[in-house]
Amino acid sequence: MGEVHVKVADRNDVDGILRLQAANLHSAGGMLSAEFPRAWFERWLDVMPVLVARDGVSVVGYLISSTVAANSDVGIVQAMLREVDLEEQHFIYGPICVDEYYRRKGIAAALYNKLREILPGTTPITFIRRDNSKSLAAHLALGMIEVATFTHLGRAHAILQASEA
Ligand SMILES: CC(C)(COP(=O)(O)OP(=O)(O)OC[C@H]1O[C@@H](n2cnc3c(N)ncnc32)[C@H](O)[C@@H]1OP(=O)(O)O)[C@@H](O)C(=O)NCCC(=O)NCCS
Repeated sequence: MGEVHVKVADRNDVDGILRLQAANLHSAGGMLSAEFPRAWFERWLDVMPVLVARDGVSVVGYLISSTVAANSDVGIVQAMLREVDLEEQHFIYGPICVDEYYRRKGIAAALYNKLREILPGTTPITFIRRDNSKSLAAHLALGMIEVATFTHLGRAHAILQASEA
């Protein structure tokens, strides 16, 4: 593996994000529930940070943070929001995705820690499919805690948030 560098995404990273997203959608056998189209990134990239991990050539990981407004059309996020009372410091965390050849090398942890560093005093909240054991393990290891559950399209999901702002 070449050197991997984490940074805030700009428009030049969107093609790489879309490529990695496409490879990890349910329709491709992956674990990503919601598809964010190019137009979503064009509208929201400057509002809340999207982070990418790059190996010099390609995007090998990304992490999206967003506002509630940015998710008004995202059904699964709306399902989560019906189960929790958001406070001012909350933001919507995720999706996060790491290229399968780069997993278990600390890239998700690096993305998570960078996001917490650039958004001090905030609390990420997210959902994870109950059968996505890798993501549940990763986010519990990063210090998130389960606060609620919901079912969407017949699938159980856990809602997690950072244990400290
Ligand atoms: C979930 C995901 C982002 C984790 O990325 P990653 O870069 O492999 O995670 P890291 O290497 O930073 O792991 C951090 C910690 O999480 C835990 N963890 C991560 N993957 C794990 C696994 N497969 N099994 C058990 N624990 C795991 C470990 O504690 C790990 O630390 P360690 O390797 O020092 O033991 C990655 O598996 C992925 O992209 N999956 C497909 C898309 C997806 O499911 N996204 C999340 C949607 S909610």
